[in-house]
Amino acid sequence: MKKPGRNDECWCGSGKKYKKCHIDFDERMEEIEAQGHIIPDHSILKTKEQIKKIKESAKINIAVLDYVGEHIKAGISTAEIDRWVYDITTRMGGIPAPLNYQGFPKSVCTSLNDEVCHGIPSEDIILKDGDIVNVDCSTNLNGYYSDSSRMFCIGSVSPEKQALVDAAKQALQEGLKAVKPWGFLGDMGQAVNDYVKSMGYSVVKEVGGHGIGLEFHEDPWVSYVTERGTEMLMAPGLMFTIEPMINMGKPSIYTDEKNGWTIYTKDGLPSAQWEIQVLVTEDGYEIISY
Ligand code: MF3
Ligand code: CO
Repeated sequence: MKKPGRNDECWCGSGKKYKKCHIDFDERMEEIEAQGHIIPDHSILKTKEQIKKIKESAKINIAVLDYVGEHIKAGISTAEIDRWVYDITTRMGGIPAPLNYQGFPKSVCTSLNDEVCHGIPSEDIILKDGDIVNVDCSTNLNGYYSDSSRMFCIGSVSPEKQALVDAAKQALQEGLKAVKPWGFLGDMGQAVNDYVKSMGYSVVKEVGGHGIGLEFHEDPWVSYVTERGTEMLMAPGLMFTIEPMINMGKPSIYTDEKNGWTIYTKDGLPSAQWEIQVLVTEDGYEIISY
């Protein structure tokens, strides 16, 4: 850990001297690191100013998902959702973060039924009664990122699918209860996994969440197949997503070879995912995007 001199300016951007600001914080992190834990680099801990900017970005992300929720219905194509996302995001001054991200061709991910994530919107995919669909939105506003996703049930879905969607949502609540300053990401991961298993479902292992804010995807990588007391320290200022992918059947997945993006369940059973963006604070957490 790089540290300023006692009388130098603190790394957090407060303008205060280090000895009057984060010196105790850093000592506490060093002690935890000495016990063998992973601690976050200062560069990924968000300052007050950054948090303000990221919240502006999230305002757009939330508004877009609200709009989708009000207008999504049977008969529309996922390309239509993509247009809504592009139009609203740009009208509000942002850029859809997925667009051209590592070659992703659209502004949003739309993943139906047995699609686990990274579904590509298309004129040919028409929503129909009984579908469950995840709409995953991410916004770049002036270089500050937000990311969240919601599930939508089209018309009347089967009780089995509804239960899966509900459990995927509740999994976030279970994870959130374990988000505490000076805890570990594994506390959250195990809370999610224990709950999902207790419901008879499984958590996808290969795809996880991520740090976010100054980049679309930054450290740490966030798994929901982890154990309490492991993974990165949840130091105040850490910002990451909780977005477990919950499968009705087995956790195994595969990637569509033709488009290189869309991930499916191997057993063909449905998968559900909700995503929130969370900030660890001095006394708990704050939900930044949902
Ligand atoms: N929004 C996804 C996430 O939650 C990332 C999608 S990458 C994309 O991390 F390129 F497919 F958009
Ligand atoms: Co994400």
